Amino acid sequence: MTEDTFAIQTEKLSKRFGHFVAVNSVTFNVRRGTIFGFLGPNGAGKTTTMRMLLGLLRPSGGKAKILGYDVAHQPRAVKKRIGYMSQRFSLYDDLTVEENLLFFGRTYGLRGARLRERIQYALRMADLIGREQTPGRELAGGFRQRMALGAAILHDPELIFLDEPTAGVDPVSRRSFWELLYQLVNDEGVTIFVTTHYMDEAEQCQELAFIHGGQIVAQGSPADLKVTLMRGVVIELTPDDPPEAMRLLKEASAAGALRVDDIALYGAQIHLVAQDAAQAQQQLAEVLTTGGVQFDPPDVIRPSLEDVFLSAIR
Ligand SMILES: Nc1ncnc2c1ncn2[C@@H]1O[C@H](COP(=O)(O)OP(=O)(O)OP(=O)(O)O)[C@@H](O)[C@H]1O
Ligand SMILES: [Mg+2]
Repeated sequence: MTEDTFAIQTEKLSKRFGHFVAVNSVTFNVRRGTIFGFLGPNGAGKTTTMRMLLGLLRPSGGKAKILGYDVAHQPRAVKKRIGYMSQRFSLYDDLTVEENLLFFGRTYGLRGARLRERIQYALRMADLIGREQTPGRELAGGFRQRMALGAAILHDPELIFLDEPTAGVDPVSRRSFWELLYQLVNDEGVTIFVTTHYMDEAEQCQELAFIHGGQIVAQGSPADLKVTLMRGVVIELTPDDPPEAMRLLKEASAAGALRVDDIALYGAQIHLVAQDAAQAQQQLAEVLTTGGVQFDPPDVIRPSLEDVFLSAIR
């Protein structure tokens, strides 16, 4: 494998803040021209890792290469070639869409015809044609996100870092944002490193890494992770009283009357992870019937990435 294969290579990358280890010896590679998803709960170390890759934060240990350049020794070469949309990115509310893009373009060193050409590209890509004179403050959520992405790619970067770019955005806008990401990868050959809390977005990545407590606990394609990480099968149950069903099932599990590895509530449904599905289904039916909870016949389902993630953390 050569440097042409990978856009990002890290080796035992670590970050300590005082005695606290925020990122603990993280090693992963990101292939060029792919979307790599970086997942983990709040405080897991996602933003800290990204800031080290961007050259904004000095690692306490380990190495990172971006597009073949060492982040610690060639930060300027790296900076020119990457785009970044920060977790709490901000546009200038009092500037129009066009003025915002002009401002960001100039900070990347673009001038004249090249600057105008790239702004036109960003406006088209973000579907902002006709909104050039709209003040930032009047842009709705989905447009703001696309405009921020447009600003991050003005200098035609080869690699884009997106830190929770769709947090708090409605599902339709999230979907159109991801279509844009795919367009950038397929048409322009860029590489995308993205963090998200949305499992439907994680499913769209070619490769995922789960980080938890500063350590990578699992890595692979969404499909591979479901096969390799999921110990046991997932049974989905829809009871008429989910909280009461949860209480009964947990009690039975603690007492040994129900053999399951995990019980979790997802909205109105309960997911149970079991080694022996038939036995668990029989036992849970007994527990719920005795407890007076009605339920639809439970199904063995394909695990979601959320199930896989919980299984990996355990
Ligand atoms: N400058 C800092 N000084 C001290 N601790 C920090 C600093 N930056 C981050 N941390 C801590 O490091 C840990 C990882 O933080 P980080 O922001 O990387 O998490 P995250 O995975 O991005 O979380 P979120 O999903 O909430 O954005 C947290 O416990 C955080 O409080
Ligand atoms: Mg973060």
